[in-house]
Amino acid sequence: MTDTRPILFFDSGVGGLSVLAPTRALLPQAPFVYVADNAGFPYGTKSEAEIAARVPALLGRLAERYHPRIIVIACNTASTIALAHVRSALELPIVGTVPAIKPAALASRTRVIGVLGTDATVRQPYVDNLAAEFARDCRVLRHGSAELVEAAEAKLRGETPDPAIFARAIAGLTNQPDGDRLDTVVLACTHFPLVEDELAAAAPHPIAFIHGAQGIARRIAFLTQGQQWPSTPGEGIAVFTGENRALDAMRPALANYGLSRSEAL
Ligand code: DGL
Repeated sequence: MTDTRPILFFDSGVGGLSVLAPTRALLPQAPFVYVADNAGFPYGTKSEAEIAARVPALLGRLAERYHPRIIVIACNTASTIALAHVRSALELPIVGTVPAIKPAALASRTRVIGVLGTDATVRQPYVDNLAAEFARDCRVLRHGSAELVEAAEAKLRGETPDPAIFARAIAGLTNQPDGDRLDTVVLACTHFPLVEDELAAAAPHPIAFIHGAQGIARRIAFLTQGQQWPSTPGEGIAVFTGENRALDAMRPALANYGLSRSEAL
């Protein structure tokens, strides 16, 4: 019998699409469920306690409903706060998304790197630990931006966000001491690769942007190695946890990611 269990991607909004895209490219037959917890959006301005309570409970419900073979928390905020809680609550392989500080430190020539995430992510001890382990000889500048998350959501609705938003996000890093030497920025929120071109255009000097989506896709392929997939191209469904008034505006973008169907949780 064919194994039809999907891969379940989870984010607060559309950010996880930046992880879904390289995964589909590697595993074109994989069925997938993309969950946007729009009822809880945004995560980046919430407290640790709120995220730690919300995410494992919701993923438990989603696992019961969709019977995934693997869950991908395609959200840095949820992963840096709740990954351990989710792993201990569910009997499924769980892949998290955490800031790509290691590859950024390997790539930086100036030894000044930036971590651009949500406010909640950039203050996490998880980030302190990654910096201490992999970037000890680097200056690690951090900046949290909630408006950049909103800008990525707006772009997916077909809108053109104000370029000043991208300039402010970059200036949040480059205006810090040693910011003029910044050469590598970790996009530590899955929404941000969706606006990478806009961020690059706003940079006062050339900056390399790094994120972990390709690595996560390879990890998913590794963890599902040897498993069966349906023989037809993978179909996807978008699931929203609350009413999505912007759904019509988002449909074309969702369809580009293979999500032509949607439903409410
Ligand atoms: N996409 C999420 C992340 O990677 C969070 C965005 C938000 O809801 O604030 O951190």
